[in-house]
Amino acid sequence: MKKTHTQLKDKFSRYLRDIRISVTDRCNYRCPYCMPEEIYGEKYSFLNRKEILNFEEILRLLRIFVQFGVDKVRITGGEPLVRQDIDKLVAGIREINDELDIALTTNGYLLKQKALKLKQAGLSRITVSLDSIDDFTYTKMNGGKYGPAKTLSAIQELDKIGFKKTKINVVVQKGFNDQNFIDVAEYFRDTNKIVRFIEFMDVGNKNNWEKDKVIPASKIFEIINEKYPISPISNNYLGEVANRYKYDDGKGEIGIISSISQPFCQNCTRGRLSTDGKFITCLFASGGVDIKSPLRSGATDEELIEIIKSSWTSRIDKYSEDRLITSAKNKKKVEMYYIGG
Ligand code: GTP
Ligand code: 5AD
Ligand code: SF4
Ligand code: SF4
Repeated sequence: MKKTHTQLKDKFSRYLRDIRISVTDRCNYRCPYCMPEEIYGEKYSFLNRKEILNFEEILRLLRIFVQFGVDKVRITGGEPLVRQDIDKLVAGIREINDELDIALTTNGYLLKQKALKLKQAGLSRITVSLDSIDDFTYTKMNGGKYGPAKTLSAIQELDKIGFKKTKINVVVQKGFNDQNFIDVAEYFRDTNKIVRFIEFMDVGNKNNWEKDKVIPASKIFEIINEKYPISPISNNYLGEVANRYKYDDGKGEIGIISSISQPFCQNCTRGRLSTDGKFITCLFASGGVDIKSPLRSGATDEELIEIIKSSWTSRIDKYSEDRLITSAKNKKKVEMYYIGG
């Protein structure tokens, strides 16, 4: 990897290794845990085109991040596939470096028609959010928009196109899919897809999060283990968000992401670039530093580097750990679709 600057270390000695970019604040779904319809209805005003970083701007920043040792880029949103020509952004990122791990998180609705182009552009991996395979539950969890059929059929195509290590994200939420999330595990057993169950998190201030709506990782483990015995396996890399388990009968692996019950801030190497060009150092931050304004008013690379450097090297974020100690209910937080889950 082309690393020309000393790696950036924060106040807890955590390096900056991955960048998550939210390429749009818009989405074709309205999952109540992320963009509830009553807030993000027709009258909601999303960012306009000028406010959003264009591809050239994103690429310029990524070139800088890579010089600091970033080796993984995740494209998120909102729903990244609603942004036009997203494959061109992927191609631009791939040009920066051959070895970069470039991943994309999508709800899969528009994936079938875009997957091949994304592969050809150099995308490494796809993660699909799919909270249920049951029609009623799936629809309820995306705000009444669509059933799972289109997403499921897109997932089936991915192998043929040559995508490997595809992951399926399932947010587990009491009163929604807590009775049948195991169906998703069952559906993807023995298919080489890795299903990851995510504890419902208190991201942003608009998703009506309450602690008793969270099904803790221990319960998720128990429910799956009872039907399909699983055993822990070691992490793929330091700072991986999911705890990994393999099925004892050899039919693949699953993951459980326990941001609420067992936070993983200690090794968090993730920086985020918001849709409108802020550099944000924690999923639960109240805001970030504006890089877009200097970028647009002619800042040199050195000046941009200084902004990134001073933000990361003064980073003390560990929100998920702090949440265990103090109630952060009234803390102002950026919304997830704007900084990329
Ligand atoms: P891999 O590169 O495949 O390991 O994926 P990833 O670790 O980047 O995971 P992904 O982007 O699929 O994230 C899975 C889920 O973990 C997200 O949807 C979030 O819900 C949660 N998550 C990811 N990063 C963070 C983080 O920094 N903090 C917290 N609290 N949760 C996170
Ligand atoms: N809690 C947990 N996961 C969430 N996601 C979005 N909002 C939340 C939340 N409140 C997940 C999405 C997607 C990923 C980017 O983040 O389902 O898989
Ligand atoms: Fe859209 Fe994903 Fe948020 Fe659901 S979780 S509203 S699919 S961005
Ligand atoms: Fe990283 Fe913040 Fe998530 Fe902790 S809460 S893992 S510091 S993004």
